[in-house]
Amino acid sequence: MAELVGNVLVGQSGGPTSVINASVAGIVAEALNHECVEEIYGALNGVLGILNEDFIDLASESQQQIRALKHTPGAALGTCRFKLKKQQDYERVLEVFKAHNIRYFFYIGGNDSQDTADKISKLAGEQGYELRVIGVPKTIDNDLPVTDHCPGYGSVIKYLATTVRETACDSEAMGQGDLVTIIEVMGRSAGWIAAGAALAKRRDHPHDPPHLILLPEVSFNQEKILEDIRRTLKREKFCSIVVAEGLVDPDGNYVAANAQTDAFGHAQLGGAGDALAEIIETNLPGVKVRVAKPGLMQRAAAHAASKTDADEAYLAGQAAVRAAVDGQTDKMITLLRGDADQYTCETGLAPLADIANGIKKLPTEWINEDGVSMNFQFIRYAQPLIQGEVAVPYENGLPVFARLDKVRVDKLLSGYDIA
Ligand code: F6P
Repeated sequence: MAELVGNVLVGQSGGPTSVINASVAGIVAEALNHECVEEIYGALNGVLGILNEDFIDLASESQQQIRALKHTPGAALGTCRFKLKKQQDYERVLEVFKAHNIRYFFYIGGNDSQDTADKISKLAGEQGYELRVIGVPKTIDNDLPVTDHCPGYGSVIKYLATTVRETACDSEAMGQGDLVTIIEVMGRSAGWIAAGAALAKRRDHPHDPPHLILLPEVSFNQEKILEDIRRTLKREKFCSIVVAEGLVDPDGNYVAANAQTDAFGHAQLGGAGDALAEIIETNLPGVKVRVAKPGLMQRAAAHAASKTDADEAYLAGQAAVRAAVDGQTDKMITLLRGDADQYTCETGLAPLADIANGIKKLPTEWINEDGVSMNFQFIRYAQPLIQGEVAVPYENGLPVFARLDKVRVDKLLSGYDIA
């Protein structure tokens, strides 16, 4: 295959994770190794930056800052939840790519973002513009199809399982049979994140916190949960509950969602913990309920990131560049788990169309019959993903994160009206 010479563009999209920037670092480091790559650009705020031609020169960033991305949370290039709506938007993307000779496009994101990448790739094909598009998986939700797991997931569950253990120490000290602690976690439509809190239990200690995990996969049965709480309070003197923001009632409606939706039509979730607290306070008089909502903290907790996760995010970025240079396009990097007892992970490729807009649910056979705890199959799956700690440098007692210079690339086209 003839070598494709041109420029690289990388963008980030959707909710950040603790390790999404490690994928940028992997892409930049690998792209520098290939002579067919002339310039390495970053799009600010994902597709929005493409429409607006807001590019920065990533090759001019110091190697020290690129390396620092490996332990920096947030999305260093800026991100977006923006849906390209009309054909004209896609045409504009290609117009910008052509103007800047973008031949390699790497989009780091979840299922909506991979759909965007797929459509851009297909349009380039229709127009006969040679472009290699490779998606890099990212989401704390861990709900992308095909890939064994998603960069971002190992770190969020490491943080949450740690938080469950820490808060349980506090609650154990305070509880007199009358204390319930609820931790509400993200994970829009699948219970992967809530399930991950199960890692907080020590092996062979089924009564360790979290005592109840409320998953979107198991519809909320108020009477049963109240009974579970009563029993736990009697036995443990306190009750630690992890609830997924996407918890649903027996009719399949979210227990807590407001009327707002994002550009992709996803409901704005949040409030399942408070809704549950109200139910407990009404039905179990004398019980004190505390609700903790880690919110953004769970996906920005670089201090508790998993080294395995960060390394795999970096690897996924490197693999994306290698695949594209080898002539692959319209694919997403996947993570493949080895068969041996000892955990190993390598990368693979899957068509973007197989990922776009899909959702991988938590397997129900990994949930115990009680509906509020996870069995050994889940633990075997999740435990390797949280191994190791990321070395975050500290200065004056606080972590030091990457600060990119963000040298702007000159705009070559006239402005675009994003309606
Ligand atoms: O990116 C996925 C996610 O982290 C979901 O778990 C959560 O529901 C959503 O993002 C929250 O998004 P936002 O920060 O845009 O409110």
